[in-house]
Amino acid sequence: MTLDPHSDESTELSQKEAGAYYTPSDVAAALVKWVVRTGSDRLLDPSCGDGRFIAHHSNSVGIEQSAVATRVARERAPASKIHRAEFFSWAAGTPERFDAAAGNPPFIRYQMFKGETRDRALAHCRGVGAEFSRLTSSWAPFLVVTASLLRSGGRMAFVVPAEIGHAPYAAPLLEYLVANFKTVHIVAVRNKLFPDLSEDCWLLYADGFGRHTDHLQFTAVDTYNPKSRPPPVGVTISVTTWRSIWKRRLRPFLMSADARDCYHQIANRQDTARFGDVASIGIGYVSGDNDFFHLRPSVAANLGIPLQFLQPTVRNGRALPRERLTKRTVDKWRVADEAILLLRIPKTLRALPRSVLSYLDTDKGKQAKTGYKCSNREPWYSVPDVKVPDFFLTYMSGKEAALVSNDAGCTCTNSVHSVTVKKGEAMEDVLRAWASPFVNLSCEIEGHPLGGGMLKLEPREACEILVPSALTLSAMPTRVVDEAVNVMRSWRHYGDR
Ligand SMILES: C[S@@+](CC[C@H](N)C(=O)[O-])C[C@H]1O[C@@H](n2cnc3c(N)ncnc32)[C@H](O)[C@@H]1O
Repeated sequence: MTLDPHSDESTELSQKEAGAYYTPSDVAAALVKWVVRTGSDRLLDPSCGDGRFIAHHSNSVGIEQSAVATRVARERAPASKIHRAEFFSWAAGTPERFDAAAGNPPFIRYQMFKGETRDRALAHCRGVGAEFSRLTSSWAPFLVVTASLLRSGGRMAFVVPAEIGHAPYAAPLLEYLVANFKTVHIVAVRNKLFPDLSEDCWLLYADGFGRHTDHLQFTAVDTYNPKSRPPPVGVTISVTTWRSIWKRRLRPFLMSADARDCYHQIANRQDTARFGDVASIGIGYVSGDNDFFHLRPSVAANLGIPLQFLQPTVRNGRALPRERLTKRTVDKWRVADEAILLLRIPKTLRALPRSVLSYLDTDKGKQAKTGYKCSNREPWYSVPDVKVPDFFLTYMSGKEAALVSNDAGCTCTNSVHSVTVKKGEAMEDVLRAWASPFVNLSCEIEGHPLGGGMLKLEPREACEILVPSALTLSAMPTRVVDEAVNVMRSWRHYGDR
């Protein structure tokens, strides 16, 4: 059964706004089989879409905000009770309680999960002891609120985004689950559950609502074969270990126990540094209008803009050489007339040269001035946070993150991180260690997958990268570390076709 996007109300949200990606039917059937134990069990799907979960069990309730989807669900699951409603409002008012819940909650990122719906969701979660920040995606509060509608002993089985393995906002969800269920089992699935969706999905099984557990169960499989039971537990993780050693992330459990032991031991060594102890790592500047603020050398010369107002900049991580950005490279950019000169006007400068004033007064300038960033700063033409760092760090990387020495006195946009050294001698150790498989592994563990095979490192994640001493590096169990790097890369689909 398919939905006709043209057939209903003009109020329908787009697929992305509603997080409306439907689960393959065999996966839906398998989750319902596990979660429903008897015919009299009452089942809830809090975001039932076209009804493909509830259709497998007649004693069921589906909630769905889309009119089109609700109509299809009513056809597909005629025995189920289907409410067309916004889930968090419905949950706040319903006296109903359930033995089981299953589904696939909408994955709406924090930028779009906002307003009253989010406030209501977060207030409900707070009321049951789960504290989410405003940076949470919708699916995590969806699961907490759903669990809070279970009867004692109840169960739930859900498709969840793979972000459950690393996102900071997944931690309050997992904390809530271990505090309220007897067992919590997460199944990581490497090959796509949804062939057409770029995001990876994992599975969550929780049983025994009203009890608690000190352990998380975790299984990593290449492919999920839909069955009425979850795959066997691969590793049982103490919640204390998950919190303290692995900073409330599950992704490290994708690699072998030997690799985890090795990583943990090296993290605990006195002579192992964290990158953040050695250097400050931050994002580059945000100009507010890249087209206006970045000039080609020929344009700057024609306008007669004095050199002191033109700062060569790195506009894109892809433009960086592997180890050093030299003046020669920047000269090549100039000769190619690339738009690499940032118009840098100090905030406090009162008298601007006529050439600069004329450029600010062009149509392009007038348009830039009204943009969101520019209109919210004073003066609008002064780009803040322009630094000339010692190094650049790529934060969206293919195979590995590059740490590139800034020998050319460039600044950088927020397309790369800026690294300013705090401890010069220790930085020598960082540079010696950087290309080692262990630091590659550390980037994989402290960073996170971005999709499309890319690895992302936020500044806070980069600060956690482990830098072992030369002695430790020389005694490294190479095979274990190399294997772990390959495993972590394979889970972010680096090199997949
Ligand atoms: C990922 S789809 C899952 C649908 C179905 N459970 C499945 O897996 O095939 C999420 C559904 O949630 C609905 N939805 C999004 N936000 C909602 C909300 N606040 N209340 C109720 N439904 C919502 C969307 O319209 C969409 O149909």
